[in-house]
Amino acid sequence: MAKLKPGFPHTTYKNISRLPEHIQKLVKKAHLQTKSSYAPYSNFYVGAALLLDNKKIIVGCNQENASYPLCMCAERVALYTYGTSHTKNIIKALAISAHYPTKPLTAPCMPCGACRQVIQEYESRQGKAIDIYVTAVGLDTIIKIKGIEQILPAAFQQDQLI
Ligand code: THU
Repeated sequence: MAKLKPGFPHTTYKNISRLPEHIQKLVKKAHLQTKSSYAPYSNFYVGAALLLDNKKIIVGCNQENASYPLCMCAERVALYTYGTSHTKNIIKALAISAHYPTKPLTAPCMPCGACRQVIQEYESRQGKAIDIYVTAVGLDTIIKIKGIEQILPAAFQQDQLI
């Protein structure tokens, strides 16, 4: 099973109890969301939770489809839900968790490349970086990444289109 490779700036928390209480709550929401995931093809259940500056939490989980390319990741489900009706508030943090029943995960669930690009769009839209917390169900370790640039440097973005 893959281990998280070093090589990007992050902070490691050995246990959820080391995090501030409001972030503990966010991470628990991400864990809980894995239970609502619709993933009959991969059996890889992902949960995401966004914390807004008004303390509201917006959740998402992956939605798969028999036509595989149509599968949608948990992070983007949460971000597009936010984009639909919550943009008056700023996203402070994003927590991501995953559950793979056939093999307990030994590394945090990092966001895929497409989700990194979408997170980048929401960061630049609000003009503020988002703290990203990644973990997995049954894993004590939680990784904190201070803004998407740490894992998506030199991103393609809006100003290149103008
Ligand atoms: N998945 C996510 O929901 N988020 C990610 O960042 C990585 C992958 C989902 C997509 C698919 O439903 C399953 O995990 C296996 O790739």
